[in-house]
Amino acid sequence: MPIALPQIPPFKTKVVEPVYFRTKEERRQKIQEVHYNLFNLHSDWVIVDLITDSGTGAMSEQQWAEVMLGDESYAGSESYFKLKQSIKDIMGFDYVTPTHQGRAAENILFSAVVREGHAIPGNAHFDTTKGHIEFRKAEAIDCTIQEAFDTEKYHPFKGNIDLEKLEEVIQQYGRERIPFINITVTCNTVGGQPVSMANIKATCQLAKRYEIPVYMDIARYAENAYFIKTREDSYHDWSIADIVKEMFAEVSVVWMSSKKDGLVNIGGFIALHDDELYNKLGQFTIIYEGFLTYGGMSGRAMGALAVGLREGIEFDYLDDRVKQVQYLADRLKEYNIPIQEPVGGHALYIDAKRMLPQIPQSEFPAQLLGVEMYIEGGVRGVEIGTLLADRDPITGKDRKPEMELLRLAIPRRVYSRNHMDYVAATLANVAERSASNQSGFRIKNQAEILRHFTVELEKI
Ligand code: F0G
Repeated sequence: MPIALPQIPPFKTKVVEPVYFRTKEERRQKIQEVHYNLFNLHSDWVIVDLITDSGTGAMSEQQWAEVMLGDESYAGSESYFKLKQSIKDIMGFDYVTPTHQGRAAENILFSAVVREGHAIPGNAHFDTTKGHIEFRKAEAIDCTIQEAFDTEKYHPFKGNIDLEKLEEVIQQYGRERIPFINITVTCNTVGGQPVSMANIKATCQLAKRYEIPVYMDIARYAENAYFIKTREDSYHDWSIADIVKEMFAEVSVVWMSSKKDGLVNIGGFIALHDDELYNKLGQFTIIYEGFLTYGGMSGRAMGALAVGLREGIEFDYLDDRVKQVQYLADRLKEYNIPIQEPVGGHALYIDAKRMLPQIPQSEFPAQLLGVEMYIEGGVRGVEIGTLLADRDPITGKDRKPEMELLRLAIPRRVYSRNHMDYVAATLANVAERSASNQSGFRIKNQAEILRHFTVELEKI
């Protein structure tokens, strides 16, 4: 019998970036010096960096070639028209406003359509989306299905919208107060979980009945399309390109942080059908970002994105990517590390409450797990727990989130299977000595809002 050939990535290395190794003792000292805040580490002190999958991917030779062709004209840049064409071909939208990243797209779009007293229902809005809504004294209302919040329960599309809940919200607020319904694909906030095509269609139908437009936050839309192809029966034979078109068929506006599925290091955009709204956005683009044909991007960055969007929907690339995330999950399960399931598209979430049950939430167990993982192997993740949840603005007391998670986000086309084995072994060693951790951290200094980026901690 011939041996089945293992799956390998559909690319090979051309340029390398050095990684520096330090001893555990050096890392222990360094993390204490930076007050146990992983955001404060210089990146050359990190061996495997899983703090985010945003802007951390590797570009292809075709993208670098396009960088050399970048047209830096202030107005009418050729690179803008290449980007516009890619978006038209892949997503079907005629109008495109480039922005420097996702939250800038939110700023422009919401400046045009969100007002005080508005409500925007959707599936667990991302932090910056919620921030831009609340900043305008409007409400982001989470209508994600209940299954999303049970880490041990299997559901193939935990990013789905609960349609009953959505209809209740529409009836409660009235359609005049709802400028749009927001679908995030994949839903980062609940773990990179996908939304099914059936759910997208049903949401659009419901929205149509009430004459409310549907907008989509499409940072990881290609990964979402991959999950539709592999998990939703009627789409197994569809190409990713056709699934993407179908996902957007009844959507009025999309915005993208292209640092994710756009396979670039910086950039974003808003794309839409409506020329009137496009003209309105233009006013805000010019005051906040730049002229209409570059927004917040350089010509070379738009060129790289025009190519990255096309590469991001190639099946072989997506298959390799999602399977790499799943491979790490399988290795962690072999070592009995408790993770959230099913595994999403871009990241794994480790359940710190189950790994460090002796550490109370008030002592930041997920942060402790992150620090221990850093000391053990120089692997950097990010806390999604009490530190991130921050304080209740009214009582000033720490909120107690349901879960204490450590997110390991996997950059695109950067790390190998060896790196995944290394991360799994690091966590296995942390788990083995987890009982020796008898206390966590207390806060020394914290900012008024978004404290997790700059907080200073000390050991109890
Ligand atoms: N929407 C989603 C779903 C996101 O995940 C992000 C960023 C944004 C919008 C904002 O985009 O960063 O380009 O301004 N997520 C990053 C992360 C930061 O680590 O998950 P941005």
